[in-house]
Amino acid sequence: MTVDASQGTNAPGADNGMVLEARDVTVRFEGLTAVDSVNETLHRREILGLIGPNGAGKTTLVNAMTGFQRPTAGHVRLGSRVISSLTPHWIRRHGVARTFQAGRLFRDMPVSENIEVAAVSLGMSRKKAHAHAMELLEWIGLADRAALPAGILPYTDERRVGIARALAQKPQFVLLDEPAAGMSDLECDDIMHVVREIPKQFGCGVLLIEHNMRVIMGVCERIHVLDSGKTISRGTPAEVQKDPVVIKAYLGHE
Ligand SMILES: Nc1ncnc2c1ncn2[C@@H]1O[C@H](COP(=O)(O)OP(=O)(O)O)[C@@H](O)[C@H]1O
Ligand SMILES: [Mg+2]
Repeated sequence: MTVDASQGTNAPGADNGMVLEARDVTVRFEGLTAVDSVNETLHRREILGLIGPNGAGKTTLVNAMTGFQRPTAGHVRLGSRVISSLTPHWIRRHGVARTFQAGRLFRDMPVSENIEVAAVSLGMSRKKAHAHAMELLEWIGLADRAALPAGILPYTDERRVGIARALAQKPQFVLLDEPAAGMSDLECDDIMHVVREIPKQFGCGVLLIEHNMRVIMGVCERIHVLDSGKTISRGTPAEVQKDPVVIKAYLGHE
């Protein structure tokens, strides 16, 4: 493992008790309350699962926590700073990275450059960004694909490069929106391995949205369950899995 996490705010040991926090976050669209008074605190080096049926408000909550959606009420904090009215770029620069549910790479650009541009856009020199991108590609086992156009990568590799791109920003927190969507069991195992390694290698706190329960149960230390924008349960995987409220919410949407 060669990834250099010694620079920047995510250096192991430079924790400062930093948290990313949603406080009473509500997001309303016209008549619909997509997120309803949700509280959550993401800590460094933990993996938090965010689950719930389709339309539960998971992506909207992540949008609110990354500056893509301004909360209608409540606020988001990074450490002691209220960030809910700041731009996605500011939030990214200050250590909160994300991937998108249907995140796509620049298809004609080499795989390595897809990662480099993310680092460069946040102020890293081109040379450093290239070295960092190569380390990240090595980490996910795609170093031999670095020079290929990203468009020819198989879907699962593309998703993994998307995660590497988020990590190129040396974030303190990374929010992953359904990184294993549409993958086979074997491919899911691969993603699970990558996600599990993130806190260990980079010191990041991870928020993972995922529909595949095996992935969620296999990698998360604790889980937050949304339904119709509201928190309906939270706890360890074992606790949440047997919570009748959770079972009912999922069955109701089958
Ligand atoms: N920009 C938007 N405008 C209007 N409604 C939206 C918008 N984004 C999401 N919604 C609605 O908010 C609800 C929550 O959506 P979303 O956060 O995408 O759910 P999830 O990610 O849990 O599937 C859904 O009913 C969705 O249709
Ligand atoms: Mg979603």
